[in-house]
Amino acid sequence: MSGAAPRTGPRPRLRPEQLRSHQWYGTEGQLRTWSHNARMRQLGYEAEEYRGRPVVAVLNTWSDINPCHVHLRDRAEAVKRGVWQAGGFPLEFPVATLSETYQKPTPMLYRNLLAMETEELLRSYPVDAAVLLGGCDKSTPALLMGATSADVPSVFVPAGPMLPGHWRGETLGSGTDMWKYWDEHRAGNLTDCELRELQGALARSPGHCMTMGTASTMTAAAEALGMTLPGASSIPAVDSGHERMAAASGRRAVDLAWTALGPGEILTADAFADAVTTVLGLGGSTNAVIHLIAMAGRVGVPLALDDFDRIARGVPVLANVRPGGRTHLMEDFHFAGGLPAFLSRITDLLHLRRPTVNGLFGDQIEGAAVHDDDVIRPRTNPVAAEGGVAVLRGNLCPDGAVIKHIAAEPRLLRHTGPAVVFDDYKTMQRTIDDPGLGITADSVLVLRNSGPKGGPGMPEYGMLPIPRHLLKQGVRDMVRISDARMSGTSYGACVLHIAPESYVGGPLALVRTGDLVTLDVAARTLRLDVDEDELARRRAGWSPPPVRTRRGYGALYDDQITQADTGCDFAFLAGPGKVPDPYAG
Ligand code: FES
Ligand code: MG
Repeated sequence: MSGAAPRTGPRPRLRPEQLRSHQWYGTEGQLRTWSHNARMRQLGYEAEEYRGRPVVAVLNTWSDINPCHVHLRDRAEAVKRGVWQAGGFPLEFPVATLSETYQKPTPMLYRNLLAMETEELLRSYPVDAAVLLGGCDKSTPALLMGATSADVPSVFVPAGPMLPGHWRGETLGSGTDMWKYWDEHRAGNLTDCELRELQGALARSPGHCMTMGTASTMTAAAEALGMTLPGASSIPAVDSGHERMAAASGRRAVDLAWTALGPGEILTADAFADAVTTVLGLGGSTNAVIHLIAMAGRVGVPLALDDFDRIARGVPVLANVRPGGRTHLMEDFHFAGGLPAFLSRITDLLHLRRPTVNGLFGDQIEGAAVHDDDVIRPRTNPVAAEGGVAVLRGNLCPDGAVIKHIAAEPRLLRHTGPAVVFDDYKTMQRTIDDPGLGITADSVLVLRNSGPKGGPGMPEYGMLPIPRHLLKQGVRDMVRISDARMSGTSYGACVLHIAPESYVGGPLALVRTGDLVTLDVAARTLRLDVDEDELARRRAGWSPPPVRTRRGYGALYDDQITQADTGCDFAFLAGPGKVPDPYAG
């Protein structure tokens, strides 16, 4: 990746008639303009309230069914307050909500749909700047991808983590502790009654998952990219500071509109390098690999899987936040100083003189200090010496695979075992506890047809459950491999994102139960110990599974989706290029 020259010095401000919205509201003597203004009066506004002012779209992913975003209805009001204060004109746009907890088969199927909606809304309406409200896993990349392609000046308002769970003297991390205690229940160590009690304690306020799962990872990435106000990403969703940040973001969006500083100028190769460094140093989610590659694609920055592996080798994990770290949760991270404090420990690895929505990146960090060395570790005492994600290659994954090795039992990081193959998730669910399958702690569990096309949507199936009889023996981790993703809150020796996926004929489709599979994380390899001739025979006998759907969005998705190693964007959206403004009088 190569760096773009930083832009310094004051930017010229637009005149009111240079605002994009002027084309709708300000051009005199045209019927359409007359009509637009008539309709604004229908909405209850006189021209002096909006004409000649930056129109700021507030894109809100609030929904009754999204517990991670349920407070955003109020936050949008705070954003609007800020927009008015700064002399702008706010307009709220409800957009699709992608709720990780409810949407099936996975909201990943719809990330690109929200990205398209964002791009098209920002282009087709009179908008000079945008404030993007989201945080539950896929909404952050989706909103940013759309705003980037529209290249409308934008500020991202992270939804903020929920408060930590508490149960019988322990703090609970959403996702992470759900998996953990569910397994304890399956092992017979937790009663039904205790499990029900836990259900009410795990997620106790609005906000996204408060572990370093995909949501916290991606909002931190948004901050590191320079798309949020400094320190915004860790503010707990229900903290009054969150409302103040939302209002300040509204004010900031008005300034951005006047200076026309769009994501195209902020999202440079250096910005992505810093976001990758940040994600790895946080011990963040493997999902960030896919999302950041897709986001970089939208501005033509060549970010590849191997960049993650290369950068990881030079970045220590300093955030002791579960599941990558062992101890703390996002509220602790916030009180320890949040992302600026974390970044202050790795400034030598960052590009400080690049633009953000709020000045230079270095300015975002200046003066930040760590207030708790156990939460944000010093370089001399890292959680792990290297970044938490490794990229694997080998005859099972010619286009790559990833593993979050810091969240796995170290004994499994070099392992050979016989494969036990499941053709799809439903079969796996139905049969995994069957002792007749002969699964031992040394087996390698293989799941296929769970990739971008095969899932479809590459669901978070990658942390396959440990069979019950092994749980009862005390086994808590095994090597598991798939073309699926896993939740950022998950953990274990799970090889993910195998590309190309099995559904399109990747080598994962050729594995048979009993084949030996070797994982060697230090050597960055994943190998199927079956010779080439035999694999060629199996390939000749392979036929593609039936097409999932030829209807509607599913058909569009099936036609356009790309593989995990290139970010799972739609082929016709990946890459830079802006559609011209549609206004034609
Ligand atoms: Fe929304 Fe975890 S469920 S962030
Ligand atoms: Mg998730």
